[in-house]
Amino acid sequence: MWVSIRRMLRVIMGDEEPIFTITEANLDSGLRGVPVGTCRTSYVDPIEGVHYVGYPVGDLANLEEEDVIFLLMHKRLPDPEESEAFRAELAHRAEEIPTGALRVLESMTPGSGHPMDWLAIGIMALGAADSTGDARADSMNLIARMPELMARLFLLRGGKPEDLRPRKPELGLVENFVHMLGIEGEEAERMERVLRFFFILHMDHGGGNLSTFSGKAVASGRASIYASIASAMNALSGPLHGRANQACLEFVQRIGTSDSNEIEAFVRSELAARRPIYGFGHGVLRAEDPRASLLIGLGEEICPNDENFRTVTALREVVPPILKEIPKISNPYPNVDLASGSLLNSVGFRKPDYYTTFFGWARVAGICAQILDERSARDGRGTPIYRPKYIPRDQPHQRLG
Ligand code: MLT
Repeated sequence: MWVSIRRMLRVIMGDEEPIFTITEANLDSGLRGVPVGTCRTSYVDPIEGVHYVGYPVGDLANLEEEDVIFLLMHKRLPDPEESEAFRAELAHRAEEIPTGALRVLESMTPGSGHPMDWLAIGIMALGAADSTGDARADSMNLIARMPELMARLFLLRGGKPEDLRPRKPELGLVENFVHMLGIEGEEAERMERVLRFFFILHMDHGGGNLSTFSGKAVASGRASIYASIASAMNALSGPLHGRANQACLEFVQRIGTSDSNEIEAFVRSELAARRPIYGFGHGVLRAEDPRASLLIGLGEEICPNDENFRTVTALREVVPPILKEIPKISNPYPNVDLASGSLLNSVGFRKPDYYTTFFGWARVAGICAQILDERSARDGRGTPIYRPKYIPRDQPHQRLG
């Protein structure tokens, strides 16, 4: 009934039908829930979580990462020939990386800054060396060259440049990165499994998450793909956004037990001290994030007895009932960050401060796909430069003299 009234209204009013009413409460709320555009790559259902072009992310989690990138770019999965051609294109573009583009990372002091600083600097360096100005070509080049940027970042910032192996892009994005780090055999296989899964789950999360929104806002001024994505990475680096996965493993390690009573006491004392409980809650989701459930499922398989992972599974049971006691918490359930760090740690990535770079690496594909969609929107005219309105406050008109 409601649907047909809406349809009738649309016929009568055309594009004028209100889809959202702005009230005073929406101001200064970080645009929370305010519709500002359309998104073709993914959407986040509050209960079912993220869907890429309509597929629940769990359906895609065991595909090849390149096929999921193809999906975000082309809005359909590739057939076998297209899949092969897409992988070959990425491999070719990775081979063509401009010599010396990443030399800037060699001049940085090992261990300095945060790995996310290095990531944004590396992306800008790639752009400075080789922006074509064609948004698709630049997106594909950046996606193809990210494994090398990631491997160089890890080894140079970690003070082990001599461990870097020559690139082998024909292996695929994740495998090339693991190979360049010099990891082999069974250890490499476990690492690739977790990384590929993590990579696919983090590629996109609707249009309004802060990094994607920032990247698209910068791109709307027709900045280059590299400048837009570096901005997105800087947005992701904040502890309320991507850096939460680092904070979450540090939190888990601080707890250091899987005993439910001890965890409950710890969580209550953190809440009493007004400190955050990492790995729970989300701006849009109102149930356990399916990405958290999927990561925990993988953890049950690959590291069920890992100490951090056991703390994570205990937190999953203990925390929601405690958070439900707090009326202003609208989502007391686990989010994607709860288990991701413990899995990365269990396959050999021991330093939590690098985890956000994996999140960033994954999201490059989703943000590039969304920028390309915005560039071709409105019959090819593109989305105009972002320019929302701010209402003046506490600024009485005044004059000098
Ligand atoms: C996420 O992946 O959960 C995010 O980027 C945060 C969000 O959706 O706002």
